Amino acid sequence: MGEKMRMKNKYRKSSGFNCNAGSRCSLSAVVWSLVGFVLLIHFYSLISHKQIGAKQVHLTRFPPIRELEEVEEDNFQFAPPRQRSPRAAKRRGNKKPSLIDEFLDDSSQIRLVFFPSSKTAVNPMRMRQNDSSYFVPGRMWLDTDGNSIQAHGGGILYVERTGTYYWYGENKDGPTYQAHSKGAARVDIIGVSCYSSQDLWTWKHEGIALPGEEENPMHDLYKTNVLERPKVIYNDKTGKYVMWMHIDDGNYTKASVGVAVSDSPTGPFQYLYSKSPHGFDSRDMTIFKDDDGMAYLIYSSEDNSELHIGPLTDDYLDVTMVMRRILVGQHREAPAVFKHQGTYYMITSGCTGWAPNEALAHAAESIMGPWETMGNPCVGGNKIFKSTTFFSQSTFVLPVPGIPNFFIFMADRWNPADLKDSRYVWLPMTVGGAADEPLEYNFGFPLWSRVSIYWHKRWKLPEGWNKPYDA
Ligand code: DGJ
Repeated sequence: MGEKMRMKNKYRKSSGFNCNAGSRCSLSAVVWSLVGFVLLIHFYSLISHKQIGAKQVHLTRFPPIRELEEVEEDNFQFAPPRQRSPRAAKRRGNKKPSLIDEFLDDSSQIRLVFFPSSKTAVNPMRMRQNDSSYFVPGRMWLDTDGNSIQAHGGGILYVERTGTYYWYGENKDGPTYQAHSKGAARVDIIGVSCYSSQDLWTWKHEGIALPGEEENPMHDLYKTNVLERPKVIYNDKTGKYVMWMHIDDGNYTKASVGVAVSDSPTGPFQYLYSKSPHGFDSRDMTIFKDDDGMAYLIYSSEDNSELHIGPLTDDYLDVTMVMRRILVGQHREAPAVFKHQGTYYMITSGCTGWAPNEALAHAAESIMGPWETMGNPCVGGNKIFKSTTFFSQSTFVLPVPGIPNFFIFMADRWNPADLKDSRYVWLPMTVGGAADEPLEYNFGFPLWSRVSIYWHKRWKLPEGWNKPYDA
């Protein structure tokens, strides 16, 4: 035993203190340790003071958002059931209609709850005088020319240099029809609209950034095809604006992505081509540009049963050979990806055509996965609101520069009876607190924070959110 101890000690570095039990402990060593300890405490308190100071500066610098995080209940008051349209009666037989049936039934008397009349439209040009820049989910929203905004399934690009936001989306300003008796309601391709704004509330129509094709039936953008969910990112290396979109035929069997490019954020975009990314079918999709300049395509595949994710090439004009399957078997679509404090988050919907369903939030440490599902992010309203994403479907999550941990959740309230009259549901969103389904724990701490989308009948961004700090 003694031999063993000696062997071990042979390889041990001398501490210089030689303070074994029973041996003489030098007083100076104790004093020096105490001095060191005191100095350490002092440094620590200095650093934490600095940090607290920095935090306070941040807190006073950024406008408060607490009231946007308050839970707002909303109980519907409905008239008793009345006579149904023959179409709705045929669809449902004798079954008692659910609220979603009523929502989808264009003859339902409660439709006005979800699609308020154009008389209540949010008109920033008229309302600005009263300084009432409220977002009102579900109300018609007019651009600076007084026309209803046509940017469905859209996304936003922020150009920091000019402080301008560009909102791209499907222009559905045509008649809704069914190509076949069993086909989904559709509108012919008109093109991708572009709107610009500096306050996210007043939007100027910049025109059709990518127009549909009227003449050539072989063209991907020929009017009877499908162009959905356009998203635009800027490539710092090439100086080009790159648009990706879902391209399909009228029966959704082509299941491809399309790519277009422009020198200017407002277009015109030049359509390049469509393809099956990584050789797979691709329907609902989005693109995400990371802080390091890498961009990714995320798309529903294998008949919407899973999502695929893969990096784009350096010029953002194609995918690379790399692809990972994520959320396999979960049947999710309408992906909206964002990043917060180094963690990647995504909101998705279920797959029920134009009908609303429950949103889910997902999180990942690496954008390539594995992704984990955290639960339903919707807070407030009422039970049916929570199970229908406030009667809407995710399309994009916009980080609001200047307000840390604050995002705008952008969704579409589709109106399959008249798609051009689909409404926008924009709501405040934050990340924080324990997730509903914390699947992974690290020493007792959940790895993921909860994503919360807060229902508000109407809400506005805090005063001065888009003004420079010193202004
Ligand atoms: C759900 C998708 O999310 C929409 O973009 C659209 O493709 C509809 N399906 C069509 O039914």
